[in-house]
Amino acid sequence: MKATRLQILICVIILFTACNQGVKENGANKKGVTKKEWGTVDDKPVYLFTLTNSKGDYVTISNYGSTVTSFVVPDKNGNKSGIIIGFDSLSTYLKHPPYFGATIGRYGNRIGNAQFKLGDSTYHLAANDGKNSLHGGLKGFDKVVWDAMVADSTSPELSLTYLSKDGEEGYPGNLKVTVTYTFTDSDELKIQYAAETDKPTPVNLTNHSYFNLSGDVNNTILDHTLMIDADAYTPVDSTLIPTGEIKPVKGTPFDFTTAKKIGLDISAVPGGYDHNWVLNNKNGALAKVAVLSDVVSRRSLEVFTTEPGLQFYAGNFLDGSFINRDGKPIQLRTALCLETQHFPDSPNKPGFPSTILQPGQQYSSTTIYKVIVQ
Ligand code: BGC
Repeated sequence: MKATRLQILICVIILFTACNQGVKENGANKKGVTKKEWGTVDDKPVYLFTLTNSKGDYVTISNYGSTVTSFVVPDKNGNKSGIIIGFDSLSTYLKHPPYFGATIGRYGNRIGNAQFKLGDSTYHLAANDGKNSLHGGLKGFDKVVWDAMVADSTSPELSLTYLSKDGEEGYPGNLKVTVTYTFTDSDELKIQYAAETDKPTPVNLTNHSYFNLSGDVNNTILDHTLMIDADAYTPVDSTLIPTGEIKPVKGTPFDFTTAKKIGLDISAVPGGYDHNWVLNNKNGALAKVAVLSDVVSRRSLEVFTTEPGLQFYAGNFLDGSFINRDGKPIQLRTALCLETQHFPDSPNKPGFPSTILQPGQQYSSTTIYKVIVQ
């Protein structure tokens, strides 16, 4: 039987659609978003999405923990490699690595003594970091399955939503959170956070990607240079809780106002850098606040944010117990985080900018990680 023209046309359309929407492995090189099944957690399906731009550069993001699992861009010779720590299998993330690439919430960084007072009530959180609460508690936003929606946009875009119920991890209020990831043709990973609550609650959302711009975790990040546009930082006590002071960086190892090698002064900081910088960007506008560079690959990472703070964590607790996707152990200081945020322990520090979200208010925050090759 001879196929009619219409039948042939239908077959071509079906084939075309299948090729474009089919599940692709990491490294898809066609602009757009692809989705692959990645497993199940808490009886919910987990996916790995690949957002590819017109240059064929890509990021992969899972709805488990709203986690960025890879960020692949070229170096000075056009060779592409991953600039963040990540794994190819969900099972490794289920072993709870230290927040590699994850979305942190409801409260990024520490809350002292795992408690805070709001109105007439004292709220108790899990003490999961000594006596303090770290990164949202025992089961923070990094360990839950988010609902995913691929958005229709000029750049590949993925929106993840999560409803954190009243009382979850000790926090008050039903909090509906949306994180939208956009990957542009200029190698910018744009992360937009939005949230609403039905009771006053602290909210401080961030992304916990660990960067090594050399693309090889055999290299430490001590030779990377870093500039942070901040004249002050928040000193901490021995448990990494801010003392409440805001101190000038001038004349201290915390001065990154001009780019310098991370290794230059790190030994003068007990334990290494794991502090919040008070950004000069004070009005909530999107501004460039940090630049990280690797002279060998000639990659630079520019960080833009609307947030008032930046946690520069130098990977001080990395100890080789996790193996990067390329088979290499992730050792001390082989990757670092630049976490845009409000200041740690703000619910207990009246002098810090407030992190309390009220019913009827919109939490809104934007951060862009942009890679350039110079
Ligand atoms: C904190 C570190 C902590 C790390 C966990 C960072 O945001 O500042 O103190 O150890 O996250 O991976």
